[in-house]
Amino acid sequence: MKFQKKILCIGAGYVGGPSMAMIAHKCPDYRVTVADINHERIDAWNSAELPVYEPGLDDIVKKTRGKNLFFAKDIENQIKENDIIFVCVNTPTKTFGTGAGKAADLQYLEKTARQILQYSQSPKIVIEKSTLPVKTALAMERILSSGKGKITFEVLSNPEFMAEGTAIKDLENPDRVLIGSRETKSGLKARAELVDIYSNWIPQEKIITSNIWSSELSKLVANAFLAQRVSSINSISALCEKADANVAEVARAVGMDSRVGGKFLNAGIGFGGSCFKKDILNLVYLCSYYGLPEVADYWESVVKINEYQQERFIANILGSMFNTLAGKKICILGFAFKADTGDTRESPAIYITRRLLAEHAEVIISDPKALKNAALDLADEEGKIDYIEDAYRAAAGCHALAIMTDWDLYKKLDYKKIFKSMVKPAFLFDGRNILDHKKCFEIGFNVYPIGKPALSHFKTSQES
Ligand code: UDX
Ligand code: ADP
Repeated sequence: MKFQKKILCIGAGYVGGPSMAMIAHKCPDYRVTVADINHERIDAWNSAELPVYEPGLDDIVKKTRGKNLFFAKDIENQIKENDIIFVCVNTPTKTFGTGAGKAADLQYLEKTARQILQYSQSPKIVIEKSTLPVKTALAMERILSSGKGKITFEVLSNPEFMAEGTAIKDLENPDRVLIGSRETKSGLKARAELVDIYSNWIPQEKIITSNIWSSELSKLVANAFLAQRVSSINSISALCEKADANVAEVARAVGMDSRVGGKFLNAGIGFGGSCFKKDILNLVYLCSYYGLPEVADYWESVVKINEYQQERFIANILGSMFNTLAGKKICILGFAFKADTGDTRESPAIYITRRLLAEHAEVIISDPKALKNAALDLADEEGKIDYIEDAYRAAAGCHALAIMTDWDLYKKLDYKKIFKSMVKPAFLFDGRNILDHKKCFEIGFNVYPIGKPALSHFKTSQES
């Protein structure tokens, strides 16, 4: 079969895999190949058990794999054979040298650019999809134009806004698709080519174009704004606990103002995930780099409030359980950074578990999808933690439950049955405010939500 377009994606991770599967699914006339240096990952993409868990992903991969979607290890040949190359390699926070702990580590991106230059035999459109600091396209262009040959490369920015757990839904029906390019004749031509791909299933009005730097920056800023909302409501949750207000009621009242909007106002133990912290720190680094310390401080405070919120949660557990956790069994319900994903990157549960272990608590971790990753994250604590998928078995014999992930499953558990199996007094720390707290209190739990008055069976000193 002759394909209309030949597309390659370098990097078969959370971004590359699902977004290419969607293009293949929506554009049967295009051939889409996803390549990675990690051969195990490619084998997994070619197997029955995909390396990424996303509702709906299995279905579209099954429909397209082997027809117009391919997972390949031979990056060199793939670069030669394809005209459009998406770059979806990882861009973690730098752990060394200048900018360590904040700036993005661009070594994988640079290696990819060099590979593209080395193996290309015809003109290519190279599209940055990974989240990057503003002006990365310039470095990419410089590398790609450093060769001796006459091959032309056009670099575009097309950041991915999908969220984990809803990736397929977001890819199928995004709020917007953003395409940034140089505003030159060749830049605009390449931009049109990419618009053409998305036009196969996305309405024109949702495909927005911009200059390349605005596009790069928009991704960082979008994530920073979302994280800022979470930190804003979390900071208010601390005040609610002091003032006997209820953070959910405050969030509802504030969010019903159409200028504010109601999404991303759920108070909890703080945001996790591979993007928010990394992208904000990246933004902070950029602001400092450009001599804007006030702007850098402003955004850094979003991360600081996130750390504060986790610290507050631990202090609450410790304080409520008579200031000692030594030898007490604590069941962590949920380890993923949010529901509907097995991903645990930057999950607040990692830090909180470590802190509980430091207090010599015995920790039992339960999660329907993330136990494998949890065990990897906490490999250095081996022997101190039990991993039990079944929530009832995990909770039995424990002194406290701590909900860390907003899995639907946890809303539907039989808490009467769980209460009966626990050591008394039984504590329940709802780090995601997902349970009916009054009901749990009536069952017998001492209940500690976030940003709402605690419901405890203990008499206060004035009462006793
Ligand atoms: C985010 C962005 O939403 C997405 O657009 C971008 O492409 C990648 O980063 P993701 O990291 O998958 O997506 O998760 P998201 O749904 O944004 O949640 C991030 C964190 O914030 C989670 O830990 C979640 O539990 C937390 N959160 C979210 C809250 O604590 N309260 C809320 O109201 C919303
Ligand atoms: P993201 O969440 O941004 O998709 P992941 O870590 O899930 O990040 O995926 C990035 C993928 O990119 C990894 O599978 C990694 O092996 C791959 N990768 C990194 N550098 C290269 C490279 N030079 N060539 C091909 N693949 C690469």
